[in-house]
Amino acid sequence: MVQYLPMRILAIESSCDETAASVVQSSGRYGGDILSNVISSQIEIHAVYGGVVPEVAARSHIEVILSVVERALEEAKSSWAQIDAIAVTKGPGLIGSLMVGVLTARTLAVAKNKPLIGVNHIFAHGFASFLTENKPEFPFLALTVSGGHTALSMYHEDLSREVLGETLDDAAGEAFDKVAKLLGLGYPGGPAIGQAALIGDDKKYKFPVAKLGSESLDFSFSGLKTAVLRQLQELTGTDAVASSRTAQKVNTAKSANANNNNAVITKSYQLDKQTVADISASFQAAAVTALVKNTQKAWLRYQPKSLVIGGGVACNSELRSQLLEIIPTAIFVPPILCTDNAAMIGALALQMARRGFYTKPSQLLADSSLETI
Ligand code: KG4
Ligand code: ZN
Repeated sequence: MVQYLPMRILAIESSCDETAASVVQSSGRYGGDILSNVISSQIEIHAVYGGVVPEVAARSHIEVILSVVERALEEAKSSWAQIDAIAVTKGPGLIGSLMVGVLTARTLAVAKNKPLIGVNHIFAHGFASFLTENKPEFPFLALTVSGGHTALSMYHEDLSREVLGETLDDAAGEAFDKVAKLLGLGYPGGPAIGQAALIGDDKKYKFPVAKLGSESLDFSFSGLKTAVLRQLQELTGTDAVASSRTAQKVNTAKSANANNNNAVITKSYQLDKQTVADISASFQAAAVTALVKNTQKAWLRYQPKSLVIGGGVACNSELRSQLLEIIPTAIFVPPILCTDNAAMIGALALQMARRGFYTKPSQLLADSSLETI
């Protein structure tokens, strides 16, 4: 039974390297208003290592999570009495990071006597747009492109999700991050590649778009990343790749669930600014083509009511302009709600609450490879 009662939710997110809390309030049938959206990013801490280090991430979440929650309540001018439920990301993500958020939410739910909702982070990326003016209509197609996931899914009104295609290896954001590392552009790589590409020639280098058959809606980015690597080796006559196990923890952190069977990038190539720009532009063109091609195929094949693009890579301006050209009604989640945040967890939790999808505090467990809602 779906209820449309007004509701205010405190949401918590800690699946990777952002500790976030938000207060959202229902508005209309599916929508929500953001009363606060506090994000404490660990980017600077992990940038030194060129990627997220899981143990460091979990420790940092513990340090800041309660003050982030307090700030979210303060900024929302909300007392505990006004909070109707607590929501938290239960997976997928880094297990140590998830456990900090889940245990915090479980404890607060018991201490404050509030119902608890465990939320799937990937589902939530697709629901962030319900917090904006431009809301999707069910059933909608979502392209979720983040540092850990790349998926094309159909979302239905009963909150079920049908995965139409996903990455067979690296996530799109992970490919941006790895190529940026090869180019010495630092972490996170996506924004840096987008910036460098602005003055680059996207036709200078021919990088491959994986061909997985006309029926397939899956993605593969590891061949593209390897092609960039080979090009760099050819240009410089050197090798920046090692397969040492010690380096692995840095590079695989963001993709706890991805198959990470590739060589590990341990250092960068020395290149002039224009070559970095041309490689960035040519790589970005191939990555964006792969995303746009499958999204268009799914759009035509399944004829959904709306298309939503969310996750960190949705901030990429080339992806935005190419998709809007072929699907002008495409809804891009605004940048602040694209990268990890707790408001999107609240957006999905509002809809789960209306359907009574609560979990007992003692039964809510973090699940690093969660596949269900
Ligand atoms: O959604 P998100 O914050 O984290 C995960 O849930 O994984 O996404 C972060 C990812 C990183 O890989 C980052 O490089 C990428 O999103 N990203 C971008 C851009 N901004 C962030 N990729 C391409 N272009 C951008 N402008
Ligand atoms: Zn995410």
